[in-house]
Amino acid sequence: MYARSFLKLRPALLTIVLICTLLSYAATGQRRNDDNSAERYFPSEQLMTVGVYYYPEAWPEQQWERDIRNIRALGFEFIHLGEFAWAFMEPEEGKYEFGWLERVVDLARRNGLKVVLCTPTPTPPIWLVRKHPEVLMVDAEGRTMVHGTRQHATWSSEVYRGYVAKIVTELGRRFGNNPAIWGWQLDNELSHYGKLYDYSEASQEKFRLWLKRKYDRIENLNRDWGTSFWSQRYQSFEQVRMPNEREFVAQFNPHAMLDLQRWFAEEAADYLRFQTRLLREHTRNQWIMTNFMAMHREVSPALSRNDLDVMTWTIYPVHGQMNEGPLGYRLGDFAAISFMHDLMRSLNPLQGIMELQPGQVNWGEVNPQPLPGAVRLWILRALAAGARLVCTYRYRQPLYGAELYHKGIVETDGVTPSPGGREYIQAIKDVQLLRSLRRPGVVEPKEQAARRTALLYSFDNRWDLDNHKQTNRWDTVGHLFKYHKALKALGCPVDVIDESMDFARYPFLVAPAYQLMDGQLAERWLKYATEGGHLVLTLRTGQKDRRGHLWEGPWAKPITELIGADIKSYDVLPGNLTGKVTAAGKSYEWGVWGESLKPRAETTALATYADQFYKGNVAAVTRRLGRGSVTYIGVESLDGDLERDLLHSLFERAGVPVRSLSNGFYIEWREGFWLATNFTEQTLPAPIPAGARVVLGNKDVPPAGVTVWVE
Ligand code: GAL
Repeated sequence: MYARSFLKLRPALLTIVLICTLLSYAATGQRRNDDNSAERYFPSEQLMTVGVYYYPEAWPEQQWERDIRNIRALGFEFIHLGEFAWAFMEPEEGKYEFGWLERVVDLARRNGLKVVLCTPTPTPPIWLVRKHPEVLMVDAEGRTMVHGTRQHATWSSEVYRGYVAKIVTELGRRFGNNPAIWGWQLDNELSHYGKLYDYSEASQEKFRLWLKRKYDRIENLNRDWGTSFWSQRYQSFEQVRMPNEREFVAQFNPHAMLDLQRWFAEEAADYLRFQTRLLREHTRNQWIMTNFMAMHREVSPALSRNDLDVMTWTIYPVHGQMNEGPLGYRLGDFAAISFMHDLMRSLNPLQGIMELQPGQVNWGEVNPQPLPGAVRLWILRALAAGARLVCTYRYRQPLYGAELYHKGIVETDGVTPSPGGREYIQAIKDVQLLRSLRRPGVVEPKEQAARRTALLYSFDNRWDLDNHKQTNRWDTVGHLFKYHKALKALGCPVDVIDESMDFARYPFLVAPAYQLMDGQLAERWLKYATEGGHLVLTLRTGQKDRRGHLWEGPWAKPITELIGADIKSYDVLPGNLTGKVTAAGKSYEWGVWGESLKPRAETTALATYADQFYKGNVAAVTRRLGRGSVTYIGVESLDGDLERDLLHSLFERAGVPVRSLSNGFYIEWREGFWLATNFTEQTLPAPIPAGARVVLGNKDVPPAGVTVWVE
């Protein structure tokens, strides 16, 4: 009977469920990415899709067909259009011209290319900023930016957002149903580039509104910002301005600065959400992303992970920095590249590189050529790290404008592949080969899964550590990279996660310099270790609460029980001075930060200082806890060897075999393939077991070389 009445009620129930779903969808305007709704756009059997930026607005229309045909013939599978073309899409206010864009999209479709279309909001047309100069950003010196480059408008201005809403809506209406459009990019590298924050009145006002929402009453802000210090007390929110070092006589208030950084990142995420909602009203079967600069600290990709379907980022590995190793300036900063892959993939498995240089760039202080092979190396390193797409900036080298020395896939004649272009063509062939060899349903080898490690990373910590370094030798990202590099050298698959994610999935969890915390996080860590996880904490962890205040009580109060030691003091050495620390009979140098620990009975010392007046004090400890363990490393070695050796011994104690790889030589496993990529200056042997089949490259992997094998 129940079944029959249920059947009768079923249509009504279904309607209610449908309405509820639609309502909740409309209410948030968001599509969570954890349902993997965008998975169908990136079928696993494709492994990775490779595309290219094309700027039709900059080339004569007679050349479009030839260019698009050639792009396809070279092997590319999608083109990326329009992020700087607002003046062409809306040449006069309210007069939209999309015909030209439709013709390009159609050409792409006819040539078998998918299209990523962009909202053109980093480049407002001149008529807009002339009519509304209040939308222009103001830099820290109080100067108003002018038309003539890009990213000069403030996304906190409601007036600007009004214009953005119109162009995004018109684009959505026109292209949201066009099956040739694969996905969308919002804006471009959302930022004000080197200008960092925008101090316009629009931003000042939005910052104050955010503070009001957060603190409700000005006394709460006074308490959390510690304004009793130097008589900084505010009487109302209206008196507060965005902290700006250029306007201060003495050191800034670190708690106010932290709030500015939080607000700015949330405001950027809000702007992306604003555009996403507008587009979603019109798009069908198309995904949405933006191209983040993954290591920049102003805009946090993590804040947009539930709004965007796909995570992408931009990377230009060679632009004149020296990097590690004699060939570092031609191969790029392998530590940064690897960290960014692990960060963005952990936010969303549907991810990839939206801009990867095809050769020399124009904007570094010196712009050397990448090493022959480097471009292909970066593409296949992305494949190894799990990228689902790689796209290059740009197809044609520009003949005019600010970037005219920037290489493209083709040379200045518009047709001949450049050296980097030829490497793209080769890499596309490599991907095609691997697609043909892919065996569905393979599972990650046990030995690989056993050493999977999560690295806990937080923008809050990064900001706070940078705001109050305590020594100019401190480098927050450098500290993080020391651990990431050590883990990669041990052959670990690493996910760079944040606190919103589940720790329990990982047998090992490393939280470097996790300075801001609370009792709740300490509880989570305790549970993690007790239930069998191996937790590694490092210096500076737990020193402050989430506001950035020190604890009233023992130093790093929330973690002392957990690590089984008291932190008695810390030292930092000036200039290039170094101190010595010994672990397992080996000596290491340090100079940046060194804490003296007092282990309790249950705790074992791992390293001790070998000089200075605190010679013999303990620098690192470990203890068993429940089914797992907790290790605390209170000193940073100069070369990262101590970190690597201590992690190595932790894996040993846990009975988990690891590799021993040179820094910059990576071995990754992806969908049945083992991939070795070599960023060092030496030819290195790939650890290919007997019976394995090499499918790409050779056992000996040269600099910039790649070897792939299946077992
Ligand atoms: C990127 C930017 C592109 C282009 C490129 C040049 O950072 O997103 O628009 O300027 O640099 O290398």
